[in-house]
Amino acid sequence: MSSSPMPHVLLVSAPLQGHVNPLLVLGRHLASRGLLVTFTTAPHAGLKFGHGDGATIDVGRGTIRFEHLKGGDLWAPDDPRYHDPTGVMRRIEEAAPPVLAELIRRQSEAGRPVSCVVANAFAPWATRVARGMAVPHAMLWTESCAVLSLFYHYFHSLADFPSREAGPGATVAVPGLPPLAAGDLPALIHAPEEFLWRQVLIADIRSLRETVTWVLVNTFDELERPTIEALRPHLPVIPVGPLCRGTENHGSGQDDDDDDCVAWLDAQPPRSVVFVAFGSLLQISRDEMSELAEGLAATGRPFLLVVRDDNRELLPDGDHCLAAATGSDSRGKVVAWCDQARVLSHGAVGCFVTHCGWNSTVEALASGVPVVTYPAWADQPTNAKFLADVYGVGVRLPKPMTRDALRRCIEKVMGGPEAVAVRARSAKWKAEATAALSTGGSLEKGIQDFVAAILSICA
Ligand code: UDX
Repeated sequence: MSSSPMPHVLLVSAPLQGHVNPLLVLGRHLASRGLLVTFTTAPHAGLKFGHGDGATIDVGRGTIRFEHLKGGDLWAPDDPRYHDPTGVMRRIEEAAPPVLAELIRRQSEAGRPVSCVVANAFAPWATRVARGMAVPHAMLWTESCAVLSLFYHYFHSLADFPSREAGPGATVAVPGLPPLAAGDLPALIHAPEEFLWRQVLIADIRSLRETVTWVLVNTFDELERPTIEALRPHLPVIPVGPLCRGTENHGSGQDDDDDDCVAWLDAQPPRSVVFVAFGSLLQISRDEMSELAEGLAATGRPFLLVVRDDNRELLPDGDHCLAAATGSDSRGKVVAWCDQARVLSHGAVGCFVTHCGWNSTVEALASGVPVVTYPAWADQPTNAKFLADVYGVGVRLPKPMTRDALRRCIEKVMGGPEAVAVRARSAKWKAEATAALSTGGSLEKGIQDFVAAILSICA
């Protein structure tokens, strides 16, 4: 067995788009600094997101290899059970540890021993495997530092949190964060004890304090400085964001459709288009879809609406809803998926109706596009609170969605008296994100700190 000339970082991702995307961008930054990077996830996710087993990407001075978790008791890539995210989480939790251990051993046999494992959140089993094999390990926290801090304080009983039933007057005071009411907290805080995602999260948060060497967070100093600083005495936090995707293959498998979207946007006036997308998981109801379609049509503005195939299937009269949105006098375009980062950075987009997943939140801020927030679960309520009340780049659409409320919210951020101030704040955040992404910015500093830490353990 010979030693690898460069440190070898093994990235391990839960098989979800919102988790794979930022970890892969992190991999690109590490590889571009000459590190050997291997990316692994469940095989179905590798295929779905565009990088099957055995693929490689050359990035700058380094390479990313894709070697997915195969065999053992994992399901085959074409197994229909992979459509259930909770079932997949449970399966992976049980079946992946020996497969990952074998994959780590194989790297040593191939002369490229793993120097460091980076697992994203919701994969505490990967942390356990790395720890058991005495491999240094880091977690990439794929949500905001605010949400990490809230979970940390909640699961270690370090602050008094309002109960689920408490009104908006009852708030929690966590250092580095504004006062937050029960409705602003991440949904898993008040989820039932037996809920699998909550159990996995608790294991994550415990392993952070006890075993993880570094906690990388997809954020940047300018965005969350007080929160990062307040959390540092508890956890070895390194901000490595914003982990925004560039123009690489993002795994939708619909590159022609993306070009079609851009051609359509090219034909629209500047800042005129309402863009609507709810991430990779959220399923909205038939009523919500109906209100959404009618509300968009009522704005009289051009809109680009993403309705994933799994959402269409759920809607018995989905075609009717879409017809309302795209009828002959409508200005809408409906797609099953698009390259969201590319769409948001297009000058024709004037507003983003979002479920406030953290990736969407960061992409909206980095693009300077005002938002209408419509959070559903997970970290989304907290991100919505920050987007509307802390960053000041949008307004909250009350639940359940109604066509009139949607139309009013869109008008507020696109045409009403508040729109000028909202646009100015959005432009400010875009400038901050651009600075964070530039040479010498927060991202470069975070990546350099992490690379230096890996090099020091390999020396
Ligand atoms: C999940 C959780 O739901 C979210 O709350 C958490 O913060 C991250 O994990 P998801 O719901 O998929 O993520 O939302 P988000 O974090 O916004 O990630 C979606 C990703 O898919 C974004 O990078 C977005 O650019 C991309 N996307 C979405 C597209 O590229 N095209 C689309 O049409 C829709």
